Amino acid sequence: MRVGGMFCLENPVGQADGNADESSPQDPVSPGTYLDTLGEEVRLCMSGRCALYSCLLDLQAEDTRRIAYLPAYTCETVIAPYKKAGYTLRFYDVSPEALTPRFDRNLIPHISLLGLCGYYGFSSYDRDFVGECVDAGITLVQDITHSAFSADGIDNRARYVAGSLRKWMGIPAGGIALKRQGRFTRPLLPAEEEHLAGRISCFEEQQRVIAGESGASEERVSDIFWKTEMRLRSMFNAYGSDELSAKIIRAYPYRNLIHLRRKNYRYILSQNPFNPQAIPVFPQLADGVCPSHLSLYAANRKRALAVLNDHGIKATVYWPFHGEISPADFPGAAYIYEHIYSVPVDQRYSETEMALVSEALRAAGTGESFS
Ligand SMILES: Cc1ncc(COP(=O)(O)O)c(C=O)c1O
Repeated sequence: MRVGGMFCLENPVGQADGNADESSPQDPVSPGTYLDTLGEEVRLCMSGRCALYSCLLDLQAEDTRRIAYLPAYTCETVIAPYKKAGYTLRFYDVSPEALTPRFDRNLIPHISLLGLCGYYGFSSYDRDFVGECVDAGITLVQDITHSAFSADGIDNRARYVAGSLRKWMGIPAGGIALKRQGRFTRPLLPAEEEHLAGRISCFEEQQRVIAGESGASEERVSDIFWKTEMRLRSMFNAYGSDELSAKIIRAYPYRNLIHLRRKNYRYILSQNPFNPQAIPVFPQLADGVCPSHLSLYAANRKRALAVLNDHGIKATVYWPFHGEISPADFPGAAYIYEHIYSVPVDQRYSETEMALVSEALRAAGTGESFS
């Protein structure tokens, strides 16, 4: 693949972070690390779902009703911690237009927790509805897996914030959990060694693929990755992070990450390669938004992915349908699940690769394979 695929393990030694001109999450002028932007009560966890679960455990004694209102368009890994913490689930639909929640006000008396989540860096939701929920005593839990580096990624009214940095950089353990008033009451469990070993072995194999070592293959990377992920699905808990991951997060030049992702996103927009097989979900990049990917809709996604693949571009589908709802009851989410896909715009790439992505997206519209 020319563009896309796993990150390699990051270097835990600090690198220059020379793009302070780009807005950064909570404090645009802070010279500190990414974690400094998040507030005081931040805990590093083994993964995003471990972080979310640790927040729900913290809330458990207080939230005796345990009815969570979650997006119908979400990941199985988001739903699992709620189930494990004993929540009954209600879902809201999500509009394909800018992935905007379609909240139902009638449900406010019937829920105790609102789960909110930005998508691909962009947070588009009815702020008034969130205010009404908070006024009604509902706990706001925000998932920042997709909006971790966006200036509007955290709603000030959230009591708990959880997310995963694993989609943003090459890191063994990427969970972050924030309690925004008070302190977490329970300690985290130590990181689980077998999971970390699987993550490291995946990075090592990816490094061998990039170095062109004989016997190394993208298939093997994928096998190790999925074996480790499937195991995490069944054994996740309120696990903490490891030292290496904490070092990487603290040293990471996150302003560069924001700067490069925004630059790459803007570059593709400027090329306007869009067509019915590549319709941008977010056709504008507002100030302060740090995109995780460029997400698109395709009339025929299977075909679009095949053309991109022929061009050496690895596109990803977030997410496979989690199976917790009847798609007919959530037409917005059903459309999204069927048509959305994402291409990389991350900090590993520059204009050269983004030109290849643009060319491939254009070719997806004509159905042309790579020549
Ligand atoms: C929105 C969202 N939240 C949470 C998670 C869970 O993160 P992790 O895979 O690190 O447990 C994911 C993972 O894909 C996600 O997409």
